[in-house]
Amino acid sequence: MEFKNILLEKEGKLAILTINRPKALNALNPETMTEIDAALDDLAKDTEIQAVILTGAGEKSFVAGADIKAMQNMNVMEGREWALYANGVFRKLESLEKPVIAAVNGFALGGGCEISMACDVRIASKNAKFGQPEVGLGITPGFGGTQRLPRHVGMGMAKEMIYTGKIIGAEEAYRIGLVNHVFEQEQLMDEAKKLANAMLVNAPIAVKLCKQAINRGMQVDIDTAVNFESELFGACFSTEDQTEGMTAFVEKRKEKNFKNK
Ligand code: CAA
Repeated sequence: MEFKNILLEKEGKLAILTINRPKALNALNPETMTEIDAALDDLAKDTEIQAVILTGAGEKSFVAGADIKAMQNMNVMEGREWALYANGVFRKLESLEKPVIAAVNGFALGGGCEISMACDVRIASKNAKFGQPEVGLGITPGFGGTQRLPRHVGMGMAKEMIYTGKIIGAEEAYRIGLVNHVFEQEQLMDEAKKLANAMLVNAPIAVKLCKQAINRGMQVDIDTAVNFESELFGACFSTEDQTEGMTAFVEKRKEKNFKNK
């Protein structure tokens, strides 16, 4: 598929997916959502790629939300279909079997805040702004905001943000645990790459299983969760990367040759 609204770049083991509609502050219209969907399928299949950075084009906006102009005249069924489709795409993003870092470089509002929350880790530039302003448009958040925001920042803070629609800055997002780090805008991509590289030196298969353990474990009771963790831990002992990682430790060898097997 040829992309018009996103860029998909690959640098070795790292992919950079950029939402690229800067004139609309990278708002998510249906075409862009379809392209993100296709890019995720590509990334899932590409065994060379072991980490992904998601960002927005330009210096003003990460993603300023779902495209309001595209939604303005939707009827009930169209609104429902749009939310179901986008939620499916964001679940695909959340479940991608490689870490995804959101490099939030400006506005992350509505669907923008929501797509960042479907990533594993969020880092932000100082000018980043987060919020779920949907109630001011007469709608609820529709791409997972009512579900992921309370999971990330707790119910009280999420309810305050969602009921008021208030927009918070990067430092406040950091304070409430919505982002892990705040950087100068010009350092953001380098820092995102550094973070990705700190993940990429480890056994990809182990990182992938950690993602499964955390994502699934957080949705179930603690007994089911730790049992699932035990199963995955056991499965690691069938991998060449477990042999390599432990042998390197015993041999006091820093360089490891992980094969993702
Ligand atoms: N949808 C469609 N177009 C958008 C957009 C959006 N979410 N956000 C910005 N744009 C467009 C503007 O319409 C404008 O286009 P034109 O030049 O053609 O008029 C262009 O991007 C630049 O925007 P502004 O002139 O408004 O820029 P600004 O600096 O004055 O304001 C802003 C920036 C505060 C982010 C403002 O654009 C804004 O409030 N945007 C909407 C934010 C929002 O409400 N997001 C939630 C959408 S609903 C949603 O996401 C539902 C869901 O959960 C799925």
